[in-house]
Amino acid sequence: MAYSVTLIPGDGIGPEVAHAVRDVIDATGVEITWNEMQAGAEVINRYGTPLPEKTLDSVRRDKVALKGPIGTPIGTGFRSVNVEIRKRLELYANFRPARSIPGVKSRYKDVDLIVIRENTEGLYSGLEHVVVPGVVESLRIVTEKSSERIVRAAFDIARKYNRKKVTSVHKANILKLSDGLFLEVARKVARDYPDIEYDETIVDATAMKLVLDPSQFDVMVMENLFGDIVSDLTSGLIGGLGVAPSANIGKKYSMFEAVHGTAPDIAGKGVANPTALLLSGVLMLEHLGEDDAAKRIRLSVEKVIGEGKVVTGDLGGKATTKEYVAELIRHL
Ligand code: NAI
Repeated sequence: MAYSVTLIPGDGIGPEVAHAVRDVIDATGVEITWNEMQAGAEVINRYGTPLPEKTLDSVRRDKVALKGPIGTPIGTGFRSVNVEIRKRLELYANFRPARSIPGVKSRYKDVDLIVIRENTEGLYSGLEHVVVPGVVESLRIVTEKSSERIVRAAFDIARKYNRKKVTSVHKANILKLSDGLFLEVARKVARDYPDIEYDETIVDATAMKLVLDPSQFDVMVMENLFGDIVSDLTSGLIGGLGVAPSANIGKKYSMFEAVHGTAPDIAGKGVANPTALLLSGVLMLEHLGEDDAAKRIRLSVEKVIGEGKVVTGDLGGKATTKEYVAELIRHL
């Protein structure tokens, strides 16, 4: 089967890692027509906006996008392109697996968990105002509808990946109404998935438990801000952002991207590590049903990084992005 995917290379190291990932995926033999579209700080001069409408239209047509990092222009009045894309395409579930890769220096060797973050509301609803000078109020929105769809997404992902347990992370002991609603909805949804265990944990205790023993978690689901923080913590457990993939999923569209940013300090030098975006590409292939190609790439990454001979500088090697990619393709 042939697929059509919108490729948004982005800013900084974005084009280097995006083209590297395209080359590895093409080498698996999966037939993809890549529609390359622009977005980011570097296209503002040409289009008057960092997110041209025709880029969004392309994602709407293809339904699936692979996106490199995009810089948020500071002080220009433009909102974050990343937040804008998630909002405009209603990509309500942020899916961030954290799985140890042998050869990547990290505190633990056997981490294997998934964080599902609600992507559209909570404190990121953008509802802030000055009540009186010196007093600012930010509204933390929690709705039944969004809570239900994110918890359902977590259970569906748990089923797809044969996971055993879903944990709701919350602060309902203090935020009795908002997180109380989240938990009430989560318990109701859990009853529809009797094959999967369900439990709950308070967010602050969760941070401690994750650092002490991440193996007690499987799939974790939570609102926006908790998810933002906890998913960076879990990326740290597997050795940092250089190897952390993510997916943003909605009812109609999906966008796959690395967790790291544009790395302006190494952009254009040909030494960026494409692994995080490549593992996001693996999630994309799984989403498309191309499990075999996904597995081949994952095994190749584990082999090449495990050997540690042809890896990029951030992983302790000396290889350029191109040399690393050639080695990955050789091991597919
Ligand atoms: P960053 O992730 O770009 O860089 C942090 C450090 O990690 C740098 O030393 C960088 O060289 C290194 N690094 C990151 N990715 C790497 C890779 N693939 N290979 C090798 N080294 C890598 O974070 P920073 O500097 O805070 O942000 C830079 C820009 O990126 C900002 O404009 C920010 O808004 C944007 N950003 C975009 C994201 C996205 O598009 N999803 C996410 C995070 C930041």
